[in-house]
Amino acid sequence: MKVFIERITTNHTFFMREVDHFNFFREKVLPYLCKVVRNKDLRIWSAGCSSGEEPYTLAMIIDEYFGNQKIWWDSQILATDISNKVLNKAVQGVYSNAALESLPSLWKLNYLNKIDKDKYEFKDNIKKEVIFRKFNLMEERFPFKNKFHVIFCRNVMIYFDEQTKIDLINKFYDSLELGGYLFIGHSESFARNETKFQYIAPAIYRKI
Ligand SMILES: C[S@@+](CC[C@H](N)C(=O)[O-])C[C@H]1O[C@@H](n2cnc3c(N)ncnc32)[C@H](O)[C@@H]1O
Repeated sequence: MKVFIERITTNHTFFMREVDHFNFFREKVLPYLCKVVRNKDLRIWSAGCSSGEEPYTLAMIIDEYFGNQKIWWDSQILATDISNKVLNKAVQGVYSNAALESLPSLWKLNYLNKIDKDKYEFKDNIKKEVIFRKFNLMEERFPFKNKFHVIFCRNVMIYFDEQTKIDLINKFYDSLELGGYLFIGHSESFARNETKFQYIAPAIYRKI
C-alpha cells in the first residue's frame, strides 16, 4: 500500500511556485492577521506540502515580515503530506543550489547555511517554525484542536474527483477561523456554489 501511494502521487514542487500567492500572503493576509489574531498565535497549514518548499517559503516570509517583532509571535506552520518519502526530505531541510535559485539572495544569506559546494540547509530558526506530520486528507475527520488562519492546499486536489474535492473544501472551511484564507492551485477549481467560501482572487478563497 505504501509503495502504491508513493507511486500514484506526484510530488513535484519548487520554491516560489505560484509566487502571486506568496505576495498576496505577505501584502494582504499578514497585515490582516496582525490586526485580528488574539494571543499572537498564528496557525498556518500547508496541506500536501511535498518536500517542504511551500512551508519553508511561508516561514521565511513570516520571519521577514515580523522582523524584530517575531519574538512576540507564536507562529506555527503545520506541514502535512501522505508520503513518507517527501516528508523525510522535508524534515532534513536540505536543498540543492539549483532548487534554491529562485529565492532572493538575502533569504539564502539569512535563512540557510551552506553545507557543501552544492547544498544548503535551512537554519534552525526556520526549521523550528515548521512541523511536518504525515496526514491523509481523505480522513473523515480532521484531528486538529485549533482552527487555522490560513490553509494552503495547492496542486493536491488534481487527483480528486468532484465530490471528494467538495468534501475536502468543506472540511477546510470548518477548519478555518472566520476571516481565514484558503489557497488552492491555479490549475484547480471546484463547484463554488457547493461551498460557503467567498472567491477573493485567482485560487484564493475566504471564510467570511
Ligand atoms: C504536486 S505536490 C504539491 C506540493 C505543493 N503544495 C505545491 O503546490 O508545490 C502534491 C502533494 O500532495 C500529496 N497528496 C496527494 N494526495 C494526498 C492525500 N490524500 N493526503 C495528503 N497528501 C496528499 C502528495 O503526496 C504530494 O506530495
